[in-house]
Amino acid sequence: MTEVGIDAIEIETGKLKLDLAETFAPAQGEDPGKYTKGLGLDASSLPDTYEDIVTMAANASHRLMKRKGLEPEDIGRIDVATESAFDNSKPVSTYVAGCLEQVFDGDFLHANKGERKFACVAGTQALDDAFNWIRAGRNQGRKALVIATDTALYARDDPGEATQGAGAVAMLIDENPDIVTFEPEQGFGSADETDFLKPNQQFPSVDGKRSMQVYLARMREAMQDFVRNGGDVHPENFAYVPFHTPFPGMVRKAAPLGYRHCVRGTDIEEALAEEIGPQPRSDEFDTSEEFLDAITEYTKKLQETDQYREWYERAVEPTVDISSQVGNWYTGSVHLARVSGLFDALDAGRDVTGKQLLVASYGSGAQAEIHAETIQSGWQDELEAMTIFEQIEDRHDISFQEYEDIHDVHNHDETTDVEPMTTPHEEFVFDGWGRMGERQYRYVE
Ligand code: COA
Repeated sequence: MTEVGIDAIEIETGKLKLDLAETFAPAQGEDPGKYTKGLGLDASSLPDTYEDIVTMAANASHRLMKRKGLEPEDIGRIDVATESAFDNSKPVSTYVAGCLEQVFDGDFLHANKGERKFACVAGTQALDDAFNWIRAGRNQGRKALVIATDTALYARDDPGEATQGAGAVAMLIDENPDIVTFEPEQGFGSADETDFLKPNQQFPSVDGKRSMQVYLARMREAMQDFVRNGGDVHPENFAYVPFHTPFPGMVRKAAPLGYRHCVRGTDIEEALAEEIGPQPRSDEFDTSEEFLDAITEYTKKLQETDQYREWYERAVEPTVDISSQVGNWYTGSVHLARVSGLFDALDAGRDVTGKQLLVASYGSGAQAEIHAETIQSGWQDELEAMTIFEQIEDRHDISFQEYEDIHDVHNHDETTDVEPMTTPHEEFVFDGWGRMGERQYRYVE
């Protein structure tokens, strides 16, 4: 069977940087440690006045296509995953294709375009669609472009405000890919939940604390389903475990629960039992409260063990590095985590070719998905070609006044008199509204 997976990735961050410790914390009257230590976030990326989900998606895709020497005719499918769409009918992928057709000679006339929605898990669902399309042999030699793009903004003074972010991750899905192949086993945990939603409004309605509980519950179910479907979860078999990262502190909470599940019935559980006792099993307790208390106690002890710490520092912590600098990118977050982990291996000069990733995606509303990927031999060259760290470094560090202005600009205002804070160069920019309420874009040389 042909191997299918991610052949290339390009990332575009919003051009503005909100420093959480220096700028946001004093204005909110909060201790900076709440953001940097508690949530694990140093800064948020935010979009300048001329940036939005289309410009970021188009800029990442343009860079990807140029670098890989692709023409529009080579692409048979464009799927955009987003929670920040501004139109209930016309998909963002048509806008992105329109942008790209301004700079390429050919067009995407025969490409199937769509938009995927299921909160932050939609990016992974779009990868899944592309994988299935290619595996079914319907691609006729063509590749799929999957783009996760979001402006993750919360209402002012919502607890989620500290976790904002904006950026796009464009991924090329192809046969015999250079970065990772997708393994066929999958696990899902999915239930009708009301933890985070955007009922036709720009800023979400959020029950933040509940959303954290729902994240953990769906992840556990997805893990059980993955194992039932034949997936391997032994922690030592994975180079990295990228989680959906709304903020790194969330991953810090999810990781020990995942680890506890993964080591059950393995040599690791036996070794740990000598140090902190066996894992509590529900049938050993009279009430669910007693079981929950025992589990909480066990998990606390687990996090203190060398065994767990070494695994966390090796396989999980490196995956939240980019996220700590840019905030939550919703649909793109787990895909940033994958890249972040691979950069750790590149920086350490560690060859992880042939090793596996265990990828754990989540979307509010709510659904988790778990699958494994195998790292391919072209991963180093692909990572070396990416410019994400230069982009992060080049962001314009905004004042709190500028933050207040830019937050208003992105509340879907029709017109704005806020001046751009950066100068666009060789990129797509938002260029005003058309007569039918469509958004318009142009390429700036
Ligand atoms: N130094 C160190 N840590 C500190 C601190 C300080 N000065 N002040 C607070 N903290 C810690 C808290 O103890 C907490 O950590 P813990 O959960 O491990 O105890 C963390 O910082 C956050 O503080 P908290 O008071 O819980 O923050 P909050 O209630 O204002 O907001 C969320 C947290 C997650 C509810 C909020 O960011 C949110 O709504 N986010 C959007 C929804 C989301 O991302 N959900 C995740 C699933 S998708």
